[in-house]
Amino acid sequence: MTDNILIIDFGSQVTQLIARRVRESGVYCEIHPYNRVDRIYLASYKPNGVILSGGPSSVIQDKAPRVPEAVFESGLPIFGICYGQQILCNQLGGVVEPHDHREFGKAMVEVSEECTLLDDTWDVGTSNQVWMSHGDRVTHLPPGFRAVGISEGAPNAIVADDNRKYYGVQFHPEVVHTPGGAALLKNFTHNIAGCSGDWSMASFRSEVTTRIKNQVGDGRVICGLSGGVDSSVVAVLLNEAIGEQLTCILVDHGFMRLNEANDVVSMFRDHFSISLVHRDASDLFLGQLANVIDPEIKRKIIGGLFIDVFEEEAKKLGGAAFLAQGTLYPDVIESVSFDGGPSVTIKSHHNVGGLPDRMNMKLVEPLRDLFKDEVRALGRELGMPEAAIARHPFPGPGLAIRIPGQSITKEKLDTLRQADAIYLDEIRKAGLYDKIWQAFAVLLPVKTVGVMGDARSYEYACALRAVTSTDGMTADFYPFEHDFLSHVSTRIINEVKGINRVTYDSTSKPPGTIEWE
Ligand code: XMP
Repeated sequence: MTDNILIIDFGSQVTQLIARRVRESGVYCEIHPYNRVDRIYLASYKPNGVILSGGPSSVIQDKAPRVPEAVFESGLPIFGICYGQQILCNQLGGVVEPHDHREFGKAMVEVSEECTLLDDTWDVGTSNQVWMSHGDRVTHLPPGFRAVGISEGAPNAIVADDNRKYYGVQFHPEVVHTPGGAALLKNFTHNIAGCSGDWSMASFRSEVTTRIKNQVGDGRVICGLSGGVDSSVVAVLLNEAIGEQLTCILVDHGFMRLNEANDVVSMFRDHFSISLVHRDASDLFLGQLANVIDPEIKRKIIGGLFIDVFEEEAKKLGGAAFLAQGTLYPDVIESVSFDGGPSVTIKSHHNVGGLPDRMNMKLVEPLRDLFKDEVRALGRELGMPEAAIARHPFPGPGLAIRIPGQSITKEKLDTLRQADAIYLDEIRKAGLYDKIWQAFAVLLPVKTVGVMGDARSYEYACALRAVTSTDGMTADFYPFEHDFLSHVSTRIINEVKGINRVTYDSTSKPPGTIEWE
């Protein structure tokens, strides 16, 4: 087993960023809720050190989430961040109090003493920018601790107990607004917890290949392939691990983009020589979706049909013992929500999660430990072409959720496909594709009057959407140059029959979502 770090989650919005920073420094880590960590878990996961995340709670409130006693009993090095620092100090005999001077945003921390946590990063006497977000603060340190840094709102902004290897910071080292933060985390994981930093995509590739072989033995595996990055990487990885035991199934629901199904087929069959069934089920899907307007009902119908078609194809292959899925780590992390309750469903994203019960297959999920950009790094490691790896995300229900508020017809799909292809073509030509998280056209349920040549036109309007994002959870609209938008609009109106007006969507997320439905 390689070195690893356990991140205990107390519900901070940025806990995942701690994991990102730790992994970027070459150390494997996992996030677990504070109430799921006990002796048995620690004995099986065997971390080299523990990081306590921030969180929305106050140490002073009743039933404040606590560090599991098993963590202290383990003798492992501990690094507490924000709430993590407060609860660490509180449980070890220090005092945490609320303060009038709440610190939110940028603050400066003065370093007063040397400390391994700050080695080669912040010298004694320097003042360093950090990002704070707290009302409470540690006012009296527990026995064995010393203060190493101070900020205006936190007298104990950095604390250390070198004997027990316990450290804490009031600020957030995991965010980019704390420029030295990644180095502090690295000092903890490498110099204090003793991790070697040798976790890389090359080592992951060989580990996961062995794991897949052990799991599936000589069983048959089927894999739903959409052409998206995740399912593509799963397919190539499985092909490397088990070769002919793998069959990929591409279900074309008719809502794919221009030439997309053919491109996927030629890449996988021709480039990677992977066994691939291409099922054109567009008539079936379109038939069932005629006159369906509600986006949630659309998603449910598409999800259900996808399962039916997949099942049929699997049967034709004589069944399979395993189903491979491109589940990623953010889907697996069980985060602690602010009020402890379930989070609200904004959209029920379609995935193949419903398959296993009905099909009686075991899941193979080789990417479930990875973040999206790690999947891309793995794809590169596997020699996949950049065009496949750097693709924008595309929703499972495809163009069906980009024809909002109206019945979906083949004509409308064709119109949208053409507009979308022109838009993406221009984005690529302008060298903007990789700067954008996702870009697409939406066919609006409204006809508008125009004048083309000397004639009146009465056609559909189309909206263009492009956003930047790091994880799809929040997003900003992309600020195209005026000339670019004008050029794309002209091309769409001139070349696509059925569209006579183009608008640009300037909504961020929140309050909008990325897709229109
Ligand atoms: P929203 O629209 O919720 O989208 O801001 C966030 C990301 O998720 C994608 N998305 C979906 N993906 N099935 C999917 O597989 C869906 O039903 C679905 N809805 C949205 C969206 O494209 C964006 O990347």
